[in-house]
Amino acid sequence: MAVKLIKQENKSGDATLATQGFGKVTDWRPPVFDPIDDMDAAYDFFAGNGFVVLGNCLDESELAHLNEFMDRSQKERPDSWGLGERRKPHHRNQGLIFSQPLLDYPELDRYTQHPRSYLLVEKILGGEDRPRFAEFNFRETPEDGGIGAMNFHHDKVSEDRLLRDPYMPCDWLCAIHYLTDTMPGTPTFCVVPKSNRFEELREAYAALGNEYAEVPLYGAAGTCILYDTATFHTRFDGDGKRGRRTWHQYYARGGWLRSSLPTTDRYVRAPSECLTDWNLFPERLAMHPDPKKRLFFSHWNTAMGEWAATGFDPEVRKSMPRGEA
Ligand SMILES: [Fe+2]
Repeated sequence: MAVKLIKQENKSGDATLATQGFGKVTDWRPPVFDPIDDMDAAYDFFAGNGFVVLGNCLDESELAHLNEFMDRSQKERPDSWGLGERRKPHHRNQGLIFSQPLLDYPELDRYTQHPRSYLLVEKILGGEDRPRFAEFNFRETPEDGGIGAMNFHHDKVSEDRLLRDPYMPCDWLCAIHYLTDTMPGTPTFCVVPKSNRFEELREAYAALGNEYAEVPLYGAAGTCILYDTATFHTRFDGDGKRGRRTWHQYYARGGWLRSSLPTTDRYVRAPSECLTDWNLFPERLAMHPDPKKRLFFSHWNTAMGEWAATGFDPEVRKSMPRGEA
């Protein structure tokens, strides 16, 4: 996701300043839900706040596998991580990112509809078979990575989010899994609760009043955070010394559903647009023999359509941004 990179200097609470946050970092720690045992409460919290924290979503063997995968792939493919000579603009000041690992590593397929969180993901996106795969990547802020200072921002949004009734289901959902423990001093994900129905952060600041808060979400490795991509969020840097690893997966909403706007009669909400114009799905998933899997991987952008039309030609893939093998 594109973000502006400027220092978090606005600690004055001045609502005329832009999107660097208003210095309203809170000590409040949101509840941590079990996504299966507490699914209804977790859904209600998400619907009211635009995010939810879920505990114990990866077990020890999964955490070991994903951390080992990160170690291994950084050695095998340093350029894909931005570690090689060809360090890329979209990697600078944001730590390391390995985009599109699913293309070449089928060992990751089993994580794409993870059984701990997927039923809740379905509920948030409108029901069974509504989620659509959008993007999957790993990120790392290495030890002694310094301060990057990411701005508060939202990811992709739809215009009707500001007016539609009901608001839910949301259009895109991101799942961030912590692969290392986060705590004060490490980088951590941070959200502004209830900010998903505002165009700009300053509007949320003015309208939410005492409710406005910038909430760091600390948690043990295996914690999962689900957030509506319209919710303002950032990465707090920590002390610049300690590191953090995360797995990020984005889902879109599939299918058609009825809704309404104040100015019109009822209308039909279309499936969410493609999250990016570059993300590719591997042939084994896009053309999966199980029709339910194919539906899950059915939100193809134009790059994906062109690649599929060539029979998934590796040379065509190489010509695409982040398509290196
Ligand atoms: Fe973002």
